[in-house]
Amino acid sequence: MKLLLLGLGLILVCAHEEGNDVVRSNFDYSKISGYWNSIFMASDVREKIEEGGSMRVFVKHIEALSNSSLLFNMRTKVDGKCTEISLLTDKTEKDDEYSVVYDGYNVFSIVEIDYTGYIMFHLVNFKEEHTFQLMELSREPDVSEEVKKRFVKYCQKRGIVKENIIDLTEDDRCLQAQGSEEDQDSRLVISGGEGDPGMNAFQKH
Ligand SMILES: *[C@@H]1O[C@H](CO)[C@@H](O)[C@H](O)[C@H]1NC(C)=O
Repeated sequence: MKLLLLGLGLILVCAHEEGNDVVRSNFDYSKISGYWNSIFMASDVREKIEEGGSMRVFVKHIEALSNSSLLFNMRTKVDGKCTEISLLTDKTEKDDEYSVVYDGYNVFSIVEIDYTGYIMFHLVNFKEEHTFQLMELSREPDVSEEVKKRFVKYCQKRGIVKENIIDLTEDDRCLQAQGSEEDQDSRLVISGGEGDPGMNAFQKH
């Protein structure tokens, strides 16, 4: 009986894996254009991604431009208020590597992607003599436990301990305005959120 159950478990895992469309190289950047949410962040310098940290920015939208630059629309809290920032990232001469100046010089690349599901990024920040790494997982609309486990494994392989992985889904990621914005497909029109203090803070910007 035990053997039978074990066999069944393995089949279920395989079937699930098959359903995933995981890509780890030769990325098609046009397919990443769209809305994303940050759900995990990890860094070997935890302060950077903690509340008030410069790298505590949440992905909202990514657009692959025709000149192969990637435009990131992000949300971050400035003095406790949700603010939107845009970051234009340029391809470096290395394959699948992008760079952006933001609190230092950053290079990043995709570790793994399922175009309809999630992205894992790995970023290295250089500032003065310091460097730190950051990994981030975004999803649309959800990721499986398996993917989360793989993210933890990737982090650990790069020397980021489990304690430095932050689950953002339990925190305020400034998502309040998202629904109404997406419906109208406009970054300028922000409406709704009646009586929601977070939303009011957002509108002030
Ligand atoms: C790509 O296009 C964007 C938008 O037109 C522009 O701002 C950016 O500088 C361009 N990137 C490069 C590397 O030329």
